[in-house]
Amino acid sequence: MHTSIHTLNQLLSEIFILYTKTLKFHWNVRGQNFGPLHAMLNANYLALQNQVDLIAERIRMHGELAPGTCKEFLANATIKENPGVNPSDKEMLKELLADHTTVINALKKAVDQFNKENAQSDVDFATGILQEHEKMAWFIRAHLE
Ligand SMILES: [Fe+2]
Repeated sequence: MHTSIHTLNQLLSEIFILYTKTLKFHWNVRGQNFGPLHAMLNANYLALQNQVDLIAERIRMHGELAPGTCKEFLANATIKENPGVNPSDKEMLKELLADHTTVINALKKAVDQFNKENAQSDVDFATGILQEHEKMAWFIRAHLE
């Protein structure tokens, strides 16, 4: 398998797990900041859902089939789920910030790799996703300052 397909598969898995975690925290967040956090996490999970769709479609554009099972996403992702655990709102945000940082680092490596391969449209694609994660990370970080 071409290395750029491997990289796109990896990004798909990481972001799918982060999407699921964001959805769970959107549902289960509690406390005085419920309203704005519920709304922010709603916007984030919709953005992440759009990203995984675009990444999977990009894998198809490169001529490969996209993985589409939770089993494969969990096996590939370095981001970890915590079944049965429902942290406080602050701990949720810390966990999501760490996970977005994982994705940001993976995206920066992907951009470097695509640059070396002179795959300009993949560079632009990954850079666009990277910018969305940087913005989401800022929104989350601003709650923790
Ligand atoms: Fe909802």
